[in-house]
Amino acid sequence: MRPADLLRRKQAGLPITVLTAWDALSAALVAEAGADALLVGDSLAMVVLGHPTTLPVTLEEMLHHCRAAGRGLAGSCAAGQEPLLICDLPFLSYQCSTDEAVAAAGRVLKETPAAAVKLEGAEPETLAVIDRLVRSGIPVMGHIGLTPQSVHRLGYRRQGNDEASRQRLIHAADALQAAGCFALVLEHVPAELGAELSGRLQIPVVGIGAGDACDGQVRVTADLLGLTPRQPPFSPPLLPGRQRAVEALRQWIADQPRPAALPAAPTSPAPPAAPHC
Ligand code: KIV
Repeated sequence: MRPADLLRRKQAGLPITVLTAWDALSAALVAEAGADALLVGDSLAMVVLGHPTTLPVTLEEMLHHCRAAGRGLAGSCAAGQEPLLICDLPFLSYQCSTDEAVAAAGRVLKETPAAAVKLEGAEPETLAVIDRLVRSGIPVMGHIGLTPQSVHRLGYRRQGNDEASRQRLIHAADALQAAGCFALVLEHVPAELGAELSGRLQIPVVGIGAGDACDGQVRVTADLLGLTPRQPPFSPPLLPGRQRAVEALRQWIADQPRPAALPAAPTSPAPPAAPHC
């Protein structure tokens, strides 16, 4: 799957499915399930690295996880049928300067099997970065609405609730399309806005907590499988995966054969007497 194939799916009215992966195991699961694209999202900072936000994850760590996900893809589906592999650019890898952003995104394409990057926001500086990346041959997926890298400014609140915020998001979506994004993630906004932007834009709008009418849906796989301790309200689990896994492991531990009676503890030799001075 290539970025242009996602556009073709939108034009043909076919749904687009994107799932996150963070290593070879999760990537193979997602590929075998038949997702169109696999996102090595910086949510891995929280989901598998145990950080409280996505901010601490480094570019080196994203490259490491993306390489592992790429290895999981190889062999898990027929040649030519692999999902599009997209890697998130982590916080501060693209905000400091356009040159640094090109270097970071370039490393993703040179050092991993990813064929596209995703980055958050649509500030003028971000749009300039996207324009430069696209002109350098690097496909870019945008991300607006709830943008976890801005948690300290915006929190995890739903965006687009009032008219001013709605207009800002419409303007941002138009600008991302004009800057050359091949698709965009729209996170935690009213369903009507998801529907409106999907109808308005030519590029696919892939929603999470943005209603069913988006061109596609993206989910954090660990949330969907119920493996994370808590899931966001807009991403309910499909199964109680964590509970089932713990139960199965407890059962395995309980099933270990135990000797009928514990062997008598070996008697240890008496310690040498303390020397007298
Ligand atoms: O990092 C991530 O997993 C994401 C998805 C929530 C879209 O950006």
